[in-house]
Amino acid sequence: MKYNIALVKGDGIGPDIVSEAVKVLEKTGGKFSHDFVFTETLAGGAAIDEFGIPLPEDTVNTCLSSDAVLLGAVGGPRWDNIESARRPEKALLGLRSKLGLFTNLRPALIYPELSDACPLKNRAIPNGLDILVVRELTGGIYFGKRGRTEDGAYDTMSYSKAEIERVVRKAFEFARMRRRRLHSVDKANVLETSRLWREVVAEVSKDFPDVEVENLYVDNAAMQLVVNPSQFDVIVTENMFGDILSDEASMITGSIGMLGSASMGIGSFGMYEPIHGSAPDIAGKDIANPIATILSASMMLRYSFDLQKEADAIENAVKSAIHDGYRTKDIYTEGTKLVGTKAMGEAIRSYI
Ligand code: IPM
Ligand code: MG
Repeated sequence: MKYNIALVKGDGIGPDIVSEAVKVLEKTGGKFSHDFVFTETLAGGAAIDEFGIPLPEDTVNTCLSSDAVLLGAVGGPRWDNIESARRPEKALLGLRSKLGLFTNLRPALIYPELSDACPLKNRAIPNGLDILVVRELTGGIYFGKRGRTEDGAYDTMSYSKAEIERVVRKAFEFARMRRRRLHSVDKANVLETSRLWREVVAEVSKDFPDVEVENLYVDNAAMQLVVNPSQFDVIVTENMFGDILSDEASMITGSIGMLGSASMGIGSFGMYEPIHGSAPDIAGKDIANPIATILSASMMLRYSFDLQKEADAIENAVKSAIHDGYRTKDIYTEGTKLVGTKAMGEAIRSYI
């Protein structure tokens, strides 16, 4: 089968890591007889340099006419002084919104071989860690009315019932495929949108009697993630809480360079990207860890193309490379094999 993939390499280490993921996809395609066809397109700082704007219409159209999008990272200090409407981050927000990607999946899990990297050590996580943060991605305060008044500024958080329901339903479905525990995170003691969020969760939960649901305030959730992260399976929450909690969850694993993410809408179309940023200080130096992007590519096979054994093959190859001691600088410890971006990609491909 043929699959069309739009590539947004982006800025900083984006090109380094996306190139490795592409080669992993090509190897996987060869092995399982699929044809992955890549179309490169520009967004973020790279698009600002070339066209003067972070998200050209052409880029949106290339993505829309593809089966999925693989994105590296956008942004960097070079574009920090540009006015807010033209910052590289606008490309990311614009893509999410224009492609209708309202559900953001951010898995955080600890690889046994890397458990020493966890800042909490094994003390707080006797049962390991495997959390899926489901973040609402196209609503809330990120997209509400904002502005300046004479002597102030405001941002608005608003949600419709429908916007809450569609992402909550997705979260229940994922919980059902995992350990059947869902924590819904809100600030219902203060925010009206959170009280509506809770009502919708209660309603949707009637369709999932086999999934255990618990409501948690966001401040408590932030604390619980540090105290006892193993209690969580799936966490569903609104856009900004999800931004913050997914960073926290990913850092507990000790290796943000290892975690991929998926942004999805109604159908199978999705955009896949590493959780980490563009790390401009190490761009082009063959140092960056390509694993987060390679695992994002495997999520693409799993969620957009329903190629489960192909996705398994990539995940297992990553596990084998870790198991056999290959480490990029960010996850290196004494006694393991220090390799660069390209050699890590090559090692992973050798196990597929
Ligand atoms: C993320 C990032 C973005 C967000 C920024 C870069 C706009 O932090 O993907 O989590 O806040 O959504
Ligand atoms: Mg973030």
